Amino acid sequence: MIKRILAFVVMGVLATGVAARAADAPKNDYVGSSSKSCMCHFKQFKAWSATPHAHAFEGLQATTPEQLKQMNELLKTTVKDHPETDAACVSCHVTGYKLGGYPAADSLKNSALARVSCEVCHGPAKNHLAVPAADKAGRKASMLVPTVETCKKCHTPEISPKFDFAVMSKKVHPVAAAAPAK
Ligand code: HEC
Ligand code: HEC
Ligand code: HEC
Repeated sequence: MIKRILAFVVMGVLATGVAARAADAPKNDYVGSSSKSCMCHFKQFKAWSATPHAHAFEGLQATTPEQLKQMNELLKTTVKDHPETDAACVSCHVTGYKLGGYPAADSLKNSALARVSCEVCHGPAKNHLAVPAADKAGRKASMLVPTVETCKKCHTPEISPKFDFAVMSKKVHPVAAAAPAK
C-alpha cells in the first residue's frame, strides 16, 4: 500500500513538473511576413514575394465568375459572391486561418497574413524570432521543415491533381542554387 501511495506521489510530482514546463514555454503565435520580420532570410523573402503565394489573397479578391464556378464545382461549395470574406474560400488563401493567424484583430498584422506566407509552411514564428540570432541551432529547431503533407492541406487532389512535391517545392522561394540558405 505504502509503495503504491509512494508511486502515486512520485507520478504526481512528475506530472506537475511536466505541466509546469509546458506552461513555461511561451505560447507560439503568428507574426506575419514583412520585409522586417524576414530580414534574416531576405533572399527567400524576395524570391517568395514574386510567387503566386504572396498574392494568394489578391487572387481570391479578383476571382472571376468563371473561376468561382470552377472552384465551387471542385470544392462542392455554393459561394455566390465575395469569396474573400467566405470561410469556404479564405482558409487556403491566407496564413493560419483561425489558428491565431488571419483574421487578426490588428489590421497591420492582418494584412501581413493575407497571403500564403512563410508561417503557412514553417510554422508560427513568434518563438523562432525570440531565439537570439547567434543561436543558430535554436533558430533552426524553432522552424518547421515542410513536407508534402504541409502542401496537401491546400493542394488537395481535387484542386491540384498533378501536384508533384519535388517540382513544386523548388518554386516556393526559388533562391539561386548558389545562394547559401541561411
Ligand atoms: C482547400 C484549399 C482551397 C480552398 C478551400 C479554396 N482554394 Fe482557391 N486555390 C487553392 C489552390 C491550392 C490554388 C492553386 C491551384 C494550382 O495552381 O494548382 C487555388 C487557386 C485559386 C484561384 C486561381 C488564382 C490564380 O491567380 O490563377 C482562384 C481564383 C481561387 N483559387 C479562388 C477560390 C475560391 C473562389 C474559393 C472558394 C469557393 C477557393 N479558391 C477555395 C486552394 C484552395
Ligand atoms: C509554400 C511553402 C513555403 C513557404 C510559403 C515558404 N517556404 Fe521556406 N521552405 C519551404 C520548403 C519546401 C523548403 C525546403 C525545400 C527547398 O527549398 O529545397 C524551405 C526552405 C526554407 C529555408 C531553408 C532551410 C534550410 O535549413 O535550408 C529557409 C531559410 C526558408 N525556407 C525561409 C522561408 C521564408 C523566410 C519564407 C517567407 C518569406 C518562406 N520560407 C516561405 C516551403 C515554404
Ligand atoms: C494555405 C494553403 C496553401 C498551402 C499550405 C500551400 N499552398 Fe501552394 N498555393 C496555394 C494557393 C491559394 C495558390 C494559388 C495562388 C494564386 O494563384 O492566387 C498556390 C499556388 C502554388 C504554386 C504556384 C502555382 C503553380 O501551379 O505553379 C506553387 C508552385 C505552390 N503553390 C507550391 C506549394 C508547395 C510546394 C507547398 C508546400 C510546401 C504549398 N504550395 C503549400 C495555397 C497553399
